[in-house]
Order: sequence, then C-alpha cells, then structure tokens
Amino acid sequence: MFLFERLIVARKTSAVKGFHKLSVERRLGILKNFAGLNSEEIKLLKYNSALGLKTANFMIENVVGTTQLPMGVATNFLINEKEYFVPMAIEEPSVVAAASYAAKLCRSTGGFTTYSDPPLMIGQIHIMGLPKLSARIIKLRIQQNRKKMIKMANEKDSTLLKLGGGLRDIETRIVNTSRGRSLIVHLIVDVRDAMGANIVNTMAETVAPFLEKLTSGKARLRIISNLAVRRMAHARAVWPKKVLGEEIIEGILDAYACAEADRYRCATHNKGIMNGIDAVAIATGNDFRALEAGAHAYAAMNGGYKPLTRYWKDKEGNLVGEIELPIQAGLVGGATRTHPIAKISQKILRVETSQELAGVMACVGLANNFAAMRAMVLEGIQFGHMRLHARNIAVIAGAEGELAEKVSERIVHERNISVSRAKEIIRKWREARRQKAKEKTRKKLRKKKGLGIIRRKLRKR
Ligand code: MEV
Repeated sequence: MFLFERLIVARKTSAVKGFHKLSVERRLGILKNFAGLNSEEIKLLKYNSALGLKTANFMIENVVGTTQLPMGVATNFLINEKEYFVPMAIEEPSVVAAASYAAKLCRSTGGFTTYSDPPLMIGQIHIMGLPKLSARIIKLRIQQNRKKMIKMANEKDSTLLKLGGGLRDIETRIVNTSRGRSLIVHLIVDVRDAMGANIVNTMAETVAPFLEKLTSGKARLRIISNLAVRRMAHARAVWPKKVLGEEIIEGILDAYACAEADRYRCATHNKGIMNGIDAVAIATGNDFRALEAGAHAYAAMNGGYKPLTRYWKDKEGNLVGEIELPIQAGLVGGATRTHPIAKISQKILRVETSQELAGVMACVGLANNFAAMRAMVLEGIQFGHMRLHARNIAVIAGAEGELAEKVSERIVHERNISVSRAKEIIRKWREARRQKAKEKTRKKLRKKKGLGIIRRKLRKR
C-alpha cells in the first residue's frame, strides 16, 4: 500500500484529496481498507462480473441480458460525525463530483447532521361498494376488531416480529370517489431494515377479506402507499460564509426563491436532489421509483408543488440548508441482497440500519441540490458537465494516455471544450513533436559531422 493510502486508512477519513485523480486500482485499494472489502469483492467491482445471467434470471422475467451503469463513490461525507464513502450508480457526469464537492465545503462546520423516523410504512386497503352504513359505525367496527387484525397480520411474518417490527396500528378514513364512498384502511407497519413493500402488501392482502366481512364492501386495492410520510428523513448542513462568499450565498438564496415560487423550476430543483438519492438507491439495490414517487408526492402534499429543501442565512451569514423527504429504502430483501454490487455498496457505506441509510441518502440529496445551485449561480451547469467530458473529448479527437490528460486540461483551461479545439491542439502538439525530432536528428548529424571534421584533422596531424 502507498504511504498516502496508509494515512487515509489510519485516519479513517473519506476526505481524500485528489481521489478523482487516482487510478481505479488505487481508489479500490483505499476502499478495501476503509470498508474491509475482501479480494472477492474487489474482483467483482473490477471485472464487471457482478450480476451474472443466472442471478438476473431469478430477479425478473424474460431475461435476455444485464445492463450496467458506472458506479463511483462520493468522498468527503461527514455525517453525524461518521465518515462515509457513498457509492453512487448513475449515467450522468458531474453528480458524484458535485456531491463530493458540496460535502467538502461543509466539513469545516461539522458536515451533515441527520435523523430519520422509525421505518414505518403504510399499507392501504381501499374498500368500495360500501352499504348504507354511517362512517361512524364502519370505523367503530374496525376499531373493535383492531387487535384481532394486528394479530392476524403479524402472524404472517414471525421473523419481522422477532426483529422488533410488525403491524403497529390501523387507521381509517372515508373518502368520496367518483364511484361512491371508499373506506381507506391504513396499516402502519414497522418494516425494520426492509424497504417493506413485500411485507406490507402481504399484510394488506391478509386482513382485506376480514375487512370485507366487517364492512360488507369489496376490497379493491391492497397495496403499499409510496407516500411514506411516516418514514421521513431529515438532514442539515451549514456552508460557511468564509468558504462560499457573500455573492454565492445570495445567488443560491435567489435560486432557491425561484424554485419556491415557480413549479417549472421546482421540478428541476427536486430532480437535482433525486439525482443523488436515486444514485445511492441504485448502487444499494433499492427501488428508486418508490423513492421518486414518494418524494414528488410529498413535494405536492399541501396542494402546490414545493422544493424538498430549504435554505436561509444564519446570524453569522453562513448558508444553512435543510432537506426533508420520505425515504423508503432498505438493507434487506429484494435486490439489496441478491445483487452482489448492492451488498458491496452496503459494506462500503458501513450503514447498520435502514434508518441510517435513509439519513445518508437525505444528505446526498441535499449535497447535490446545493452543488447544482452553486454551479448555476457561478459558471453554469454545462461547464462542470463538460469538464468531466473533456477527457472523453480529447480521446475522441485522437489523444491517448498522457496526451489525453494534457489536452483535456488545456481545453478546460481555455473554456473551449470542443472536439475541433482538441484536434487543433493535438495537431499542433504532433507538429511540435515532429519539429523537435527533426531538430534532434539535425543536432546529432551536426555533432557527427563535427566529430568527423575533428577526426579528419587529427588524422592529418
Ligand atoms: C441536472 O441533472 C440537475 C440540475 O438540473 C438540477 C437543478 O437545476 O437544480 C442541474
């Protein structure tokens, strides 16, 4: 191990200067020691052999192949005083870099603080075709049988019960639909470290026939609600004024005000948040569609459509950012256990509970949102994107190895990240190299000629 890696491991920090400049090999070396990855896991990460067809064929139907996304780790995350490298799987450039940068800028104020609600999910049973009974009578019947239904549902999952989870409560509402009254029964289930869809759906299907008998109605829907408002995650960070500067803080506050006031902007603002959260969800084998549905439904909770983050200035003029959204993500069940990379991601994260994972995801969402606004009020988002593309552009233009590095640095410096400029630089560089080579040969010849004259002179003597 290089001395540099040894220092990082000894300090157990995710604040690794120049991590992005290291080779994949050296980055893996750091993670191996930081998270205790074994050589089998390193091999899986390195050789893309993680999700074989055999496993894939068990996961979904009609399998014909697998697909892949790049997975990176965000650095610098200090959350509730614990260091994290955060695995993120995403096709979009800049997202991992942006999260890492935002996390770096708030480290001097202690990084992120976060807390998450207990993992309570809501299972819904919608009963239609209700007889002409008053809402009060229907609700009363359900309340009288509450304990019976809780027992019935909990018998379905003894493991969950042993782990301290299970059906906790039953709530009811009557809602008027276009097809008459609907009784909506909510099962409040503590799903512990699972995302919870399977557990909750099973419980809903278990108690639904009993509810039909109680109400003489028809249970049309028995399914989880992805508006997981009983499972909220909250995070906060302070970006110091002396690091950002007054102008950037004012710019970010303006950008935030635009998202608050305009739903067209707000959709994109929230999309930037989900860039980070989804990337962690995909890396850890979680259901990102559920997270998306929950986040946007929560943003529209009170009629309008609002940002999932909030920003303001504290007394010292520092920028404070906060996020609050439902996070339904787990460490057990589904792809979190079947997908080998998901298991490795969990290990890299070193999270112990689904609540802890939810907190990390919220921090990453906040980080990406902050970074996007910061970039937009500064150089604009395209420049950051293009910077990461610069190397690709250099390669497309015909550069390789060290030359590709040099060309990309140059086009970034010139702020002209285009194939045509890269080609021009490569042409000039090759031309200069040819000239240099010619000059060298000429010098050699001159030297030879010179030596020849001297030799001849010496011979004459
Ligand atoms: C791009 O994937 C995300 C952003 O559009 C988010 C934002 O505008 O806040 C940059």
